[in-house]
Amino acid sequence: MPKVKIDGFEVEVPEGTTILQAARQIGGDIVPPAMCYYSTLKGSGGKCRTCLVKVTKASEKDPRPLPKLVASCQQVVMDGMEVANISSEEVLNARRGVVEFLLVNHPLDCPICDQAGECQLQDLAFEHGLASTRYEFERRTFEQIDIGPYIKLHMTRCILCYRCVHVANQLTDERVHGVIHRGDHAEISTYIEKAIENDFSGNVIDVCPVGALTDRTFRFKSRVWFLNPMYAHRNCDKCSGKAVVWMYGHEIYRVTAREDAYGEVHEFICNTCRFDKKDAADWTIEGPAHIDRHSVISQNHYEDEAKVVR
Ligand code: SF4
Ligand code: FES
Repeated sequence: MPKVKIDGFEVEVPEGTTILQAARQIGGDIVPPAMCYYSTLKGSGGKCRTCLVKVTKASEKDPRPLPKLVASCQQVVMDGMEVANISSEEVLNARRGVVEFLLVNHPLDCPICDQAGECQLQDLAFEHGLASTRYEFERRTFEQIDIGPYIKLHMTRCILCYRCVHVANQLTDERVHGVIHRGDHAEISTYIEKAIENDFSGNVIDVCPVGALTDRTFRFKSRVWFLNPMYAHRNCDKCSGKAVVWMYGHEIYRVTAREDAYGEVHEFICNTCRFDKKDAADWTIEGPAHIDRHSVISQNHYEDEAKVVR
């Protein structure tokens, strides 16, 4: 099995593992951020460039460095490879550039955006963004679109990561959702605004790294950090029925799928669980959901409160 060193930490991984996956096995600060890669969606990654790293030694056989920074979500590790992520000023500089580029057409409307507190671009901008913009041209803007009764598309916030398109391709039987046009004109479309009626369409909300796709049954109801995320399950004939219910007192404000430490869902949930089961009696509540990644949601100490109540 190939061995790879990332920022000085060595790990042995199966053949075919990417640098990003290897870094995730090591964990901690050396894991590159990823805005378009999503481990449970085939073909994702390679679009946003936030995961760029420097390969300082290509392999044991060929120890020369790779001439350009590489997308760690795409580059497979070779035995003896050495990679620099946060230890490289060149990588951090490039990441600052990528964040600036992503923000060129992204509105800074975090104060009114439902994704605030769980937006990957907000976190990225906080860590790598500049305090001001150099962009002087008019930003592209779009009308908001209702994609069926449950999902709102706010294309102005979209960073074209294609994750929702992969969900549409891989989880729903009839794809009515994709990217049309190219370059600055590219936009997520529902092919003549046809509603996504499929049972698993709500998962586009969870995979969207920004606030471009939001839950119409939850929009503007509460900031996420005022709610307590709880693991819960129910008997469901369409999905595993394992979810996170976001509660205020005994009321359920929204339901989402469970996410791992990198904000990725491994068991997608159906629309019935997500949108129709908002009564606490519908669910068996297991206990507080742990949010691994750094998030403002943990600031309300809901996990400690649950321990005191018990
Ligand atoms: S709508 Fe969200 S998930 Fe879809 S491409 Fe845009 S940013 Fe990505
Ligand atoms: S996460 Fe690798 S290019 Fe987007």
